[in-house]
Amino acid sequence: MADRPMTVPGLVARKAEGVPITMITAYDWTFARIVDDAGVDAILVGDSLGMVVQGHPTSLPVTVDEMVYHTRMVARGARRALVVGDMPFLSYQASVEEGVRNAGRLIKEAGAAAVKVEGGAARVPLVRALVDAGIPVMGHLGLEPQRVHMMGGYKVQRDADALLADALGLEASGAFSIVLEGVPAAVGEHLSSKLEVPTIGIGAGPGCDGQVLVLHDVLGLYTEFTPKFVKRFADLGTAAREAVETFREEVVERRFPDDSHVYR
Ligand code: KIV
Repeated sequence: MADRPMTVPGLVARKAEGVPITMITAYDWTFARIVDDAGVDAILVGDSLGMVVQGHPTSLPVTVDEMVYHTRMVARGARRALVVGDMPFLSYQASVEEGVRNAGRLIKEAGAAAVKVEGGAARVPLVRALVDAGIPVMGHLGLEPQRVHMMGGYKVQRDADALLADALGLEASGAFSIVLEGVPAAVGEHLSSKLEVPTIGIGAGPGCDGQVLVLHDVLGLYTEFTPKFVKRFADLGTAAREAVETFREEVVERRFPDDSHVYR
């Protein structure tokens, strides 16, 4: 783990260095500090916050103002990791100009170093305009959660030729990396071998140039819905509930506060 802050060129260089990129989501200062201390390369302030923080069934209701609010907290807590702000649904689909202005807010008002947008060929004009404006762009292909209704659910995407064409289009227009979500491992590996820029997989197999997961899945804090690709590395949900149960019992039984927690 390097001590210097991670940069966009530094992240891109990881591919040539053969060092897998690590990215995880965070949505506030407390967890940004924790994941930054853990040494991840990048923190994604994902619009997944709509599900794991706000409790919606999809990420679609998340607004630009909410993304600015959460990204600002994360940027304040991240000392080393690259902060990537996610562009929420309808913040960039209506027009390129609107997309540039909203992406600019994540950089200018919230302190992100880059933004992420979902989509392939349709996104090329936007990616070009963002890069022209000096805003680094991470693409997102495969299972695009903002198209959940078009897909009829969160479904694995298998059209390798279309995905490759989209990925090459994003790369040619200046995207510095591409998240690949919900594609067969063979497709993840194939696309990664064809692209110069790094791929960061989530449910795209070990052949990607890096991996990203949603923090609340990793920590066992979100249990409503667990896709096959999620690995739960801890069960903080249970630990948190047990801690609060113990607090409640000790108060009811007058065991807390005890002598060590009172002022004399
Ligand atoms: O919103 C998010 O957290 C994401 C990741 C799943 C890549 O887009």
